[in-house]
Amino acid sequence: MRDLFSISGKVALVTGGSRGIGKMIAECYLRAGARVFLSSRKAEACAAAEKELSQYGEVTALPADVSERGQCERLIGEVGERVGQLHVLVNNAGATWGAAFDEFPDSAWDKVLGLNVRAPFVLTQLGRALLEASATEDDPARVINIGSIDGLMVPGFKNFSYSASKAALHHLTRHMAAELAPKILVNAIAPGPFPSKMMDATLDKHGDAIRAKSPVGRVGRTEDVGAAAIYLASPATTFMTGAVIPLDGGLSTTVGMGVEI
Ligand SMILES: NC(=O)c1ccc[n+]([C@@H]2O[C@H](COP(=O)([O-])OP(=O)(O)OC[C@H]3O[C@@H](n4cnc5c(N)ncnc54)[C@H](OP(=O)(O)O)[C@@H]3O)[C@@H](O)[C@H]2O)c1
Repeated sequence: MRDLFSISGKVALVTGGSRGIGKMIAECYLRAGARVFLSSRKAEACAAAEKELSQYGEVTALPADVSERGQCERLIGEVGERVGQLHVLVNNAGATWGAAFDEFPDSAWDKVLGLNVRAPFVLTQLGRALLEASATEDDPARVINIGSIDGLMVPGFKNFSYSASKAALHHLTRHMAAELAPKILVNAIAPGPFPSKMMDATLDKHGDAIRAKSPVGRVGRTEDVGAAAIYLASPATTFMTGAVIPLDGGLSTTVGMGVEI
């Protein structure tokens, strides 16, 4: 059973791995024995994450803006040049935008859809050859997209392009799964609230209300998302593709009518 859940020796690329959920996944992958490449735009933040995470295993930071095709090309090329393998691509880098409906700007659509939907597609497209070359019949390569419960239900925030982008990413997960099987399996995690730069202001202001509404009474932790990402990268999930897994302590999965009958 230990081998069934093992990702030891696998090579993983985690976008947005310099902080937040991406860094949590990178840390857990390293603790599980994977070789990790992490990426984000800011070279300094990448280097700091590399330094901090190197206590857990072999990690290399490769800064890149994945909303630009040329930089995705360079990123995948660098992983290929350095290790010649890529077993797991985690499309985690993402951005959000909040504004009132009447003021919601066009730029918030371009920015958020470009990073949250187009970038995972472009990286998977450019990474396909390396992923396929690293796949075996018994253990296909993996793409793991980080969606959101905001793409599963209507959020309490005015983040219109974000919720739409995550619903799109969930469906893109299914569409790419159909296209890329059997050599590459594509699944998504739809997280609920986890502490991160993206969520800190919200949790500072509304954390108590969110915890009170959560069936498990808390927000996400490093090991929660690490375990889900390990599971989806491991031989335990070779019969799973196109799945979108809510990881939210029940926030989206236990919503009722709100009416006692
Ligand atoms: N935290 C939550 O509660 C939550 C819930 C549901 C879903 N999610 C999803 O989880 C993912 C990570 O979110 P997070 O909360 O950890 O956010 P975060 O703290 O803001 O981290 C975002 C990461 O993405 C990188 N990034 C941003 N724009 C980029 C670009 N153009 N190219 C490359 N990297 C870029 C950032 O680094 P740089 O600034 O250096 O580029 C950072 O490493 C996102 O897809 C988000 O939608 C989060």
